[in-house]
Amino acid sequence: MSTNSETTSNSARPAKEIPTLSRPEERGAAAERIRAYPYRFPRDRRQLGGKFSVEENARRLLRFFYFERRLMQALGAWTLSIPEFEVKLETGRQIFYHADAARLLRERLHEQEKRLAEIDQHRDAEIDRFIEELLSARDPVELLVGVHQVVGRALQTAYRHHIDDTDPVTDAPTVRVLRRILSDYEPMLEWAEQAITAYVEGGAEETRLGSWRWHLQRLLGCVGGVTGADPRAAEPAPLRSAGHPFQRGTAPLRDARFETFKHTGDYDTADGEARFPKDSYENLRLRFIRTQRDEVDAIEAFGTFIWDIRFKDFQAEYDLARITWDEARHTEIGHRALQAAGYDPFELRNRLTGSTCRGPMDPAFAMAEINLFGEVGVLKTINGLVETARERQDALLLHIADFIRSDERTHVRKGQHILKCMTSLGAQELELRTRELFTECLVSLGAVKSDMDVFTVSREDIEDLVGE
Ligand SMILES: [Fe+2]
Ligand SMILES: [Fe+2]
Repeated sequence: MSTNSETTSNSARPAKEIPTLSRPEERGAAAERIRAYPYRFPRDRRQLGGKFSVEENARRLLRFFYFERRLMQALGAWTLSIPEFEVKLETGRQIFYHADAARLLRERLHEQEKRLAEIDQHRDAEIDRFIEELLSARDPVELLVGVHQVVGRALQTAYRHHIDDTDPVTDAPTVRVLRRILSDYEPMLEWAEQAITAYVEGGAEETRLGSWRWHLQRLLGCVGGVTGADPRAAEPAPLRSAGHPFQRGTAPLRDARFETFKHTGDYDTADGEARFPKDSYENLRLRFIRTQRDEVDAIEAFGTFIWDIRFKDFQAEYDLARITWDEARHTEIGHRALQAAGYDPFELRNRLTGSTCRGPMDPAFAMAEINLFGEVGVLKTINGLVETARERQDALLLHIADFIRSDERTHVRKGQHILKCMTSLGAQELELRTRELFTECLVSLGAVKSDMDVFTVSREDIEDLVGE
């Protein structure tokens, strides 16, 4: 029998054994029924236990969520400033991997006693300081070192340890979430290793990368690592970001394999001479495929928006991240379709007109241009293109345009909510201001001629000259 003082005893004292009141006749009958049962199903070997309470589980998952959200934003901030085609594309895809990891963790956190508003408003000044330093990379290879070799690897290890340490039965949903995230991490980190090796073999100085890696590892160590539970080390000095807050790039960069143009939005003008008659199917087809390859600039647009509207609305960030991946895919589709059509993709000049205008612009107007003019504009003409491709039995164009059409319809739909998070302007005002800003930019680039004092390019001109 327990006394009053024993029931109120603190947890440091040994717990009193609670007796098992098993009845021999019931136990024996159960054993008999089990023996007679004909099926021997696979045995579930998971054990009850685990190191975390719901509270500690949520504390760790919230940190993971915050790292993932910050990595999505950080990669978005760099999309304009990565010249190398393959790295820009892969970064567009990885932005979504981090966004999707954040989404899964956010949903699990909501099941672990956290309100969504609390999760979305969560900020961590120490982690921000680390991210700010990681963003201060001197070039894309330093960015890859920070994002993948330092934080990416630390998160991968932490996710594996969390899977091992948490209760696989009571906390099975967390285990599943982390396994799904790891299925993106494994190819992502493997790709990053190969990409960094390619940079080194191409001349990037390994020692410089090694000291940058060590510096960031020490900085991560001084905030207790990704879990916050590691012993804290002293902060390395000096920090690059101290006194130099990170500012994202504004100019779209391309690698040396590209020839680019921004003095016009028109491919025939850029080429100096038309390849096919202006309104011929052949011309529209090549223009469509080139536009897809040149959507490398849409990776830059949507990636940059994630950074520019960071922390305003998680759903908007998530949708932008997904669109960024889709645009990376459209770029890949365009690149491959050019090859399928018999071109070396690098022989065809790359259009920088749109991205040059959008790069330094307020995100609401840049988004209005690419979403309300560009993507809506694609949908105006793509049905006709698909039908002609079908009539002509042009399997290549039919195949790619069919998938791209469904993506762009989805982008137009998602764009509604994203724009609402960016501006409170009404539709007419937003369109007019966007047209004014693009007129100014296109005139400055020489892409349109202003022969009147008061002049604003039409919606159709922008659809045509900047496109999507
Ligand atoms: Fe696209
Ligand atoms: Fe799009």
